[in-house]
Amino acid sequence: MKILQLKIKHFRNIDFLDLNLNPGINIFYGNNGQGKTNIVESVYTLAKTQSFRTHHPKEMIQYDQEEATIYCTFEKGKYLKSNTIILNKLGKICFLNQTKMKKLSEYLGELLAIDFTPEDVSLLKSSPKERRHLLDVELSALFPIYVKHLILFQKLLEQRNALLKQIKTFNEELLKVIDQQLLESSFVLFQRRKWFIAQIQDLATKIYQKLSGQSDQLTIEYKTFIDENNKESYIQKGEEIFLKNLEKDKEKTFTNAGVHKDDFVVYLNQKEAEFYASQGQQRGITLAIKLAIFEIITATTKEEPILILDDVFSELDDQKCLKLLQYIAKKNQVLITCTSIPSYFKQRENENVTLYQVSQGKVIERRMFNNG
Ligand SMILES: Nc1ncnc2c1ncn2[C@@H]1O[C@H](COP(=O)(O)OP(=O)(O)OP(=O)(O)O)[C@@H](O)[C@H]1O
Ligand SMILES: [Mg+2]
Repeated sequence: MKILQLKIKHFRNIDFLDLNLNPGINIFYGNNGQGKTNIVESVYTLAKTQSFRTHHPKEMIQYDQEEATIYCTFEKGKYLKSNTIILNKLGKICFLNQTKMKKLSEYLGELLAIDFTPEDVSLLKSSPKERRHLLDVELSALFPIYVKHLILFQKLLEQRNALLKQIKTFNEELLKVIDQQLLESSFVLFQRRKWFIAQIQDLATKIYQKLSGQSDQLTIEYKTFIDENNKESYIQKGEEIFLKNLEKDKEKTFTNAGVHKDDFVVYLNQKEAEFYASQGQQRGITLAIKLAIFEIITATTKEEPILILDDVFSELDDQKCLKLLQYIAKKNQVLITCTSIPSYFKQRENENVTLYQVSQGKVIERRMFNNG
């Protein structure tokens, strides 16, 4: 998959940008605060309908403007497609091939992108919510059924919590109906998450070993409320847990156990990486996890996502930089941001590299690397 044209209007410090992107490596370079990350953030937002650095879409609309528009044409297999997102004060409107999409599940999964950004470094140390968010975002892009059940689950959970607050008029029958549906959706989310984490573990270990040049072992433990592959047994166990927790749930007016509390823990050589791995090792682990997700999406959809690497090369040691460079050299389309072009690229004159100099929200120069 590759993006051919990218158009951005009133997005952060980008007033207007109309850019042709090349296959291979696209490097956006320039001084701090010029709009490099904004450009790749807009691509990520087109793919996932949300940013990698804010949960508030309004922040992405240029100051003093009512709305921001991002548009791109991209090649997927033998098809030429387009995605458009309009961000305004009310939220976002998504178009696929100029047609407005009513459901998120219809829009997601067309343009595929994977990012590795400075924010990812804190993945292991951050809250379970952030790790669940990663699973939800990626699985939503992979499986429309996942988005459907995720939205349903969230709605049912809200209904259940609202019911728990009604002490005087508490309706036990209604609770049973909600619980049943909640567990049906939970099972779908659980199954996909379990599959995904097992895949990540296998691939991330191999990638991490390649990046570090050592035989380190990564293990990822999925922490969930019921680990049961048979649907009937899953639902039965779920009902038992809900019954056992009912008094506590009523007291707290909140559902204490469920897949909304899922998490995963990463171990480096059997030690919890969050506490024992160095800052650089944690960065390497999260990079390996993201690249593993890249491989899983490629294998599952038979399409290679756009790979976004924001400010990565300044943060990794030389060994990892060189290995990462070897890895991305074979990819369809990679978008990289950096303040100065890393010296590693200077040795690779024959690679398919395009340079874009970014200044004050504009691309002021675009050239092929081997011409300059
Ligand atoms: N909503 C907005 N409207 C206008 N400008 C914005 C908005 N949000 C952020 N900016 C501006 O965008 C600029 C930051 O852009 P960006 O994060 O892309 O920088 P960068 O080139 O990646 O820099 P660095 O090298 O420091 O990572 C800042 O100057 C910031 O003030
Ligand atoms: Mg940046």
